[in-house]
Amino acid sequence: MGKISAVDLFSSWAEMGKDEGMETGHAPSVEFMISKSIPKLNDDFSAIDIGCGNGWLVRKLNTFENCLRCTGIDGSESMIAKAKSIDSDGDYFCQKLPGWTPDEKVDFVISMEFLYYLNEPLKFLSELNKNWLNENGILAIGIDHYLENTSSLSWSESLGVSMTTLSIQEWTKGFEDAGFSNIEFYQYGAKEDWAGTLVIIGQK
Ligand SMILES: C[S@@+](CC[C@H](N)C(=O)[O-])C[C@H]1O[C@@H](n2cnc3c(N)ncnc32)[C@H](O)[C@@H]1O
Repeated sequence: MGKISAVDLFSSWAEMGKDEGMETGHAPSVEFMISKSIPKLNDDFSAIDIGCGNGWLVRKLNTFENCLRCTGIDGSESMIAKAKSIDSDGDYFCQKLPGWTPDEKVDFVISMEFLYYLNEPLKFLSELNKNWLNENGILAIGIDHYLENTSSLSWSESLGVSMTTLSIQEWTKGFEDAGFSNIEFYQYGAKEDWAGTLVIIGQK
């Protein structure tokens, strides 16, 4: 079956209102990622959410007193239009990745359910380390599609979208190779038929 791009898929989801379901579904894992990352950050921090969808996490982080500014990046015009319609003062940029870097580096990069849509996600980790994060900055990623989460392995076929399937070991080694240290990983929400959201956190 021919594959469509992830950006086209999620644009159609935004148009159908399915972005709101993602927000509800992903929120518990993201709460966990935030709870593990915030204590590692300096008092005041700047942040970027990559693959921000309708921007719900950007708005959440912007409510934190010590968040100086959180920006959202997503390749889908419909998702970004939705984010801006909810929060006209917010910083949301429509950019297809890789191929764009922020003007200013930030202290915290967070990304939920985005990286495996890239053809070379491990290469992108190096780019995040080099061009997106300040010294000692924190990268936190959450992914539900990975080798050990066997119930996610049919998604590429069923959604008709290319996905890069890596094991936990490949992801954590990718963090190491990209220059991150103090790497931690968790399988948040694991249960009998679900290996959990693979959360990986590393420091530049
Ligand atoms: C599964 S959604 C997750 C959205 C949001 N993080 C959440 O948890 O609700 C993945 C998002 O990544 C975006 N995306 C996928 N591939 C992309 C690419 N190459 N460049 C930029 N954004 C991309 C999609 O448009 C979509 O909004």
